[in-house]
Amino acid sequence: MARPFFVTTPIYYVNDVPHIGHAYTTVAADVLARWRRLHGDDVFFLTGTDEHGLKVQRSAEERGISPLEWATTTAARFRSAWDDLDISYDDFIRTTEPRHHAAVQEFLQRVYDNGDIELDTYEGQYCVPCEAYYTDDELVDGNCPIHGRPVDHVVEQNYFFRLSRYEQRLLDFYAEHPDAVQPESRRNEVLGFIRQGLRDFSMSRTSISWGVPLPWDPSHVAYVWFDALINYCTGVGFGADAERFARFWPADYHLVGKDILRFHAVYWPAMLMAAGLEPPEVVFAHGWLLVGGEKMSKTRANQIAPSDLVADFGVDGFRYHFMADQRFGPDGDFSYEAMVARYNSDLANNYGNLANRVLNMAVNYCGGVVPATRADGPLAAVAAETYTEVVACMDRLDVAGALGAVWDLMGATNAYIEASEPWKRNKAGDTEGVAGILGDCLEALRIATLLAAPTIPRATTEMWRRLGLTGTPFDVSLPAAAAWGQLPSGSVLDKGAPLFPRKDIDE
Ligand code: ME8
Ligand code: MG
Repeated sequence: MARPFFVTTPIYYVNDVPHIGHAYTTVAADVLARWRRLHGDDVFFLTGTDEHGLKVQRSAEERGISPLEWATTTAARFRSAWDDLDISYDDFIRTTEPRHHAAVQEFLQRVYDNGDIELDTYEGQYCVPCEAYYTDDELVDGNCPIHGRPVDHVVEQNYFFRLSRYEQRLLDFYAEHPDAVQPESRRNEVLGFIRQGLRDFSMSRTSISWGVPLPWDPSHVAYVWFDALINYCTGVGFGADAERFARFWPADYHLVGKDILRFHAVYWPAMLMAAGLEPPEVVFAHGWLLVGGEKMSKTRANQIAPSDLVADFGVDGFRYHFMADQRFGPDGDFSYEAMVARYNSDLANNYGNLANRVLNMAVNYCGGVVPATRADGPLAAVAAETYTEVVACMDRLDVAGALGAVWDLMGATNAYIEASEPWKRNKAGDTEGVAGILGDCLEALRIATLLAAPTIPRATTEMWRRLGLTGTPFDVSLPAAAAWGQLPSGSVLDKGAPLFPRKDIDE
């Protein structure tokens, strides 16, 4: 039976509209999901929206509508943003759905029965945009360390999750699972945080009603983070379909931004242990996408909607840029100029021109029909190395590295054309030589197209057709389909118009 593979994005707050930061995580998750599907895995790719909490309640109040109406409006915007970006999610979860309420209640009850939730008094500082508590020494000049704005002072009778009891168990878990937090720098950050000592945290609210009521005391609702994290379990049938849950849990990858690492790598595994469940295999935290060196935010009005860039670069141009230009790990700066430059060099030139060149020559010199691929052609070894390299990169979620390897194969193909000069051989009447060279170039193009497909699904699907192949790159299976020599000779080629027309920065 196919290997189950469960990948998630954060569920995004519905008080914001989708911007390129959200798209960054979501496209990366999509590339990983498509990559695993190509290998025949039974992939479940979950995304969705986080709809409870004070922040959403306040946003709705400002608009004079109910929190659910507000959440429904923005959830739809997220869903359509992902549809527009060809995100192949399998499920879109909303935390206001009955299935999620049921799962949260089941989860909470288990933790409560386990004795890890207790009533206590809380007094401290709360940042609403973070939906998080801070101690006095975590504040910067009395303000939230993330948002730089005043916090609310709260005194509440709350239920507390006994996180402090999990300090050693978490350290043991991470010692036994050295890859459970990636990249390495983030793992060190998490270990450092745990070693400082973990405090119990308040996991319920009486001050608001917009949330999931605690099953044993409905006068409290669950703290929004406690509720939100459980979405990952709900999505695979926790409390509803035991067989499905057993199949997909624990999650293979939670992709998150570094802002929410602590929730995913400290709170969440402890919550899972308290509920008698396994922690996720990998929490991968990437850095910030900055605009002009600054974090995007509503107040700075520097948020870029994906649709603005898709209008100029197309869906594939958008996806390619963020995957190739921003290493998945460190912070990266977005600039429109860099996007134009990379689009022109990588997509218009290296991929687009190479394809044009090879297809044109095959039409002119070989009658537009695929010649046989030679088993010992010089590109065969390069293509084999490319696949190995892409696998190694994708195993550590280095999508930029994987794309670099694929583009190196395109570069090698171009260099081979330059060196072997098929136009000269054609003039000299060396039909066999020309057919050999172009057969190899077309095959290299097929393999590069296949390996680029998870990132640029539209262009590669079109290229697949132009190469005379049936179906789409997503119909084949890896690793078999990456082996050299599978482009059927005799298939009819189609030159087509440029896939990625060059951009002029002045336009
Ligand atoms: O935190 N650069 O939701 P959120 C890179 N609801 N990634 C960015 C980004 C940027 N500038 N801005 C946002 C929440 N992101 C919670 C999550 S999960 C159980 C609950 C991405 O709407 C990145 O993945 O604030 C970040 O972690 C996420 O959006 C935060 O989304
Ligand atoms: Mg946020």
